[in-house]
Amino acid sequence: MTAPLQDASLADAHVRLDAWSVWFASTHALDAVSLVVPRGGVTALIGPSGCGKSTVLRSINRLDDGQAGLRVTGRILLDNVDIHDASIDPASLRRRIGMVFQRSNPFRRSILENVVYGPRLHGLATGDALAAVAERALRRAALWEEVKDRLGEPATSLSGGQQQRLCIARALANEPDVLLLDEPTSALDPGATQRIEELLYDLRTDVTIVIVTHNLQQAARVSDHTAFLLDGRLVEVDATRRLFTSPRDPRTEAYITGRFG
Ligand SMILES: Nc1ncnc2c1ncn2[C@@H]1O[C@H](COP(=O)(O)OP(=O)(O)O)[C@@H](O)[C@H]1O
Ligand SMILES: [Mg+2]
Repeated sequence: MTAPLQDASLADAHVRLDAWSVWFASTHALDAVSLVVPRGGVTALIGPSGCGKSTVLRSINRLDDGQAGLRVTGRILLDNVDIHDASIDPASLRRRIGMVFQRSNPFRRSILENVVYGPRLHGLATGDALAAVAERALRRAALWEEVKDRLGEPATSLSGGQQQRLCIARALANEPDVLLLDEPTSALDPGATQRIEELLYDLRTDVTIVIVTHNLQQAARVSDHTAFLLDGRLVEVDATRRLFTSPRDPRTEAYITGRFG
């Protein structure tokens, strides 16, 4: 199989997968995926259920580390450093790379406590400075105006869309360089989805965003680059507009025109 073409020059790579393969026991979840995530902007991962999208995100954040039966080959580089290098500890990696999941999962604590949890844990701020960190993160997540007068209320008192923006704020509070989102709006209504798409648009200038979505319109709306995965392999990656208007691979064309998946 020939390597998919990719325009982004390797010098611009913020995250780079290099022949990255993952097995869960006998399941070959990813097969030699090579992908450059350029610095800044939004990269979307699309493909049918089970094709390995979540495994790509989890690999970048080393979330599957230590799982029984896991076997990996290849490399993942963050700023040209191998994330499995002995010099990188997973906790600091996860500070630099935030993650947001499909189901919003706020802690059973107040709105404020959710946002200051990471900075406190990582020693990024203490005392009064924590309040400023929380405000900045909530503003960046487009949630501040809605919660500024109720920061002490339980996170669970928020609507579903607000809870997901709170999870984004919680990730942003650590000042990550990279934000990974795994189908972040698939449980939300169209209005809440639109708010999140808009905030991703605003964030992309200073955070590198990778979003998994099986909503092709969403990928087309929010991303600069799109990668199409099928059966654990990267079929094609390109500028989003080009991938959706003139895909190079017939399997990509079949998928984006709704013939499977
Ligand atoms: N923790 C795990 N243990 C065993 N198999 C897994 C695990 N996570 C994912 N898989 C398998 O790896 C493949 C890719 O899964 P996933 O990355 O979740 O796909 P997607 O997010 O595209 O739906 C699937 O066959 C899935 O069943
Ligand atoms: Mg998934």
